[in-house]
Amino acid sequence: MSSQATTAALIDAASAPYWSTDLFAYYRARGKLRGDPAFAGILREGLLGESERILDLGCGQGLLAAWLLAARSRSDARPQNWPSEWAAAPRPKSIRGIEMRRRDIQRARDALGQKAEFELADITEAEFGMVDAIVMLDVLHYIDYESQLCVLTRAQAALAPGGVLLLRVSDAGSGFRFTIGKYIDQTVMLTHYHRAPRVYCRAAREWLEVLAAAGFHCTALPMSAGTPFANIMLIARPRRMPRASRPMNDSLIVQ
Ligand SMILES: C[S@@+](CC[C@H](N)C(=O)[O-])C[C@H]1O[C@@H](n2cnc3c(N)ncnc32)[C@H](O)[C@@H]1O
Repeated sequence: MSSQATTAALIDAASAPYWSTDLFAYYRARGKLRGDPAFAGILREGLLGESERILDLGCGQGLLAAWLLAARSRSDARPQNWPSEWAAAPRPKSIRGIEMRRRDIQRARDALGQKAEFELADITEAEFGMVDAIVMLDVLHYIDYESQLCVLTRAQAALAPGGVLLLRVSDAGSGFRFTIGKYIDQTVMLTHYHRAPRVYCRAAREWLEVLAAAGFHCTALPMSAGTPFANIMLIARPRRMPRASRPMNDSLIVQ
């Protein structure tokens, strides 16, 4: 089966749990999953392929969990239809989301029940535990620069050997495409939440530097195909050498 057909089927399956609980959440799920190439990109590239314990920081209404659960059940039910150009579907044993908006946590719990765990908390304070993957999709720019480094440093310490951090951010150094994304982000915030929070963005190079300072080495993949935005997926792995001997930045941007 083609990757487009599988993506469409996964959008249906991942949105379906919201239908019976909250129509706003259902249509928001469909819109986000359809418009955001990160979700299919994570599957195609196998970015969470090896991860048994996944922690989604700033999980919103639990879309990543819904997506990964849909992918696993589709790949189990029809393995012959899984796109041959995609990596094998991830098979997480646990998915935990942390989110500071009560309403979104409720939406996630109502839709997914016991299939994932959702916690109402601020990621600058919450315990991360020990996990194999931490994902932050469009979250870190909502917290100030000092707290960003603190969250990344704690994320590094929370990753088991072989673990990975997926950080999807916008590249503030990319001019007009960044400005469009920022404008839309602020408009969505105003429409949905009646406030436009201050944001703390960085150019791609600076994201790589702060990840290096937090003890990661990193690869960047463009993750905005089909959109006007300047989003990138940073794939960061802990560097386990003593901090004093770490170079500040040995990261790589893949074009
Ligand atoms: C643009 S939304 C992305 C939601 C989700 N990651 C997704 O891709 O569907 C950003 C989310 O981060 C959450 N967030 C921002 N700062 C946070 C914090 N300090 N602690 C927990 N959640 C936070 C917001 O409430 C919001 O739900």
